[in-house]
Amino acid sequence: MDSAITMGTTTVNTMASTMANTMEEALSLPVTIRRARRDDLPELEWFGLHTPHREIIATAFRTQERGQGALLVAEVNGFPAGQLCIDFQRKRTLKRGTLWALRVFAPFRKLGLGTRLVLAGEAAVLDYGYAEAELGVDRDNAGVLGFYDRLGYEACGTERGRYSYRTPDGDVVHVAIDQWILRKVLRRETAWRPAAPSSWAATPPPGR
Ligand SMILES: CC(C)(COP(=O)(O)OP(=O)(O)OC[C@H]1O[C@@H](n2cnc3c(N)ncnc32)[C@H](O)[C@@H]1OP(=O)(O)O)[C@@H](O)C(=O)NCCC(=O)NCCS
Repeated sequence: MDSAITMGTTTVNTMASTMANTMEEALSLPVTIRRARRDDLPELEWFGLHTPHREIIATAFRTQERGQGALLVAEVNGFPAGQLCIDFQRKRTLKRGTLWALRVFAPFRKLGLGTRLVLAGEAAVLDYGYAEAELGVDRDNAGVLGFYDRLGYEACGTERGRYSYRTPDGDVVHVAIDQWILRKVLRRETAWRPAAPSSWAATPPPGR
């Protein structure tokens, strides 16, 4: 089921120069946070920026189709301007959902899309039946720690490892992982809830 929730508006400040003066205006655009559809996948490459990651995006989408994860997009004016992946399997023994690959296309940053995506991801984790969310922050991305701190995430350890992926050109890229692990206990009473009924419900595994 494709579900879509319009989560208010995001305001974009624009400046238009005229010969006589400079005019500043604010535009409001509706934001919809929803699960990705297959036809989003090419656009999620953001004009080539993430084309090397095509395989990773496709894998996240297949995981969503199997009910073992979610690929959320923040759609602004028909464009998937932000994305967040959720993995329900990786830490299932701890009943923790793993949020990963949060990113907002640069021209749309600092408008609240990242925050909305994380809150929607947490709601999906709760709907799956877990009460904790976890994510990793690369040690060379310390600037983003304040963003997660404001959302209530706390450091709970570090992880090192590696993964690899194949680019559309056939090259295999190996990536070293060196991350802080952040965790948040989720409470249904205080969680963000979409206006539409149970649109985030993830498919629970058989037997649950
Ligand atoms: C992190 C990210 C998703 C936030 O998206 P966003 O839509 O800008 O988020 P919001 O508008 O909800 O919040 C932005 C706030 O977080 C802060 N922030 C986010 N990343 C930051 C960074 N690397 N350094 C400093 N501040 C950062 C912004 O300064 C802003 O603070 P302000 O509200 O005081 O101005 C976006 O910056 C991004 O895509 N970054 C590159 C990918 C990345 O680092 N992802 C996180 C991986 S763990």
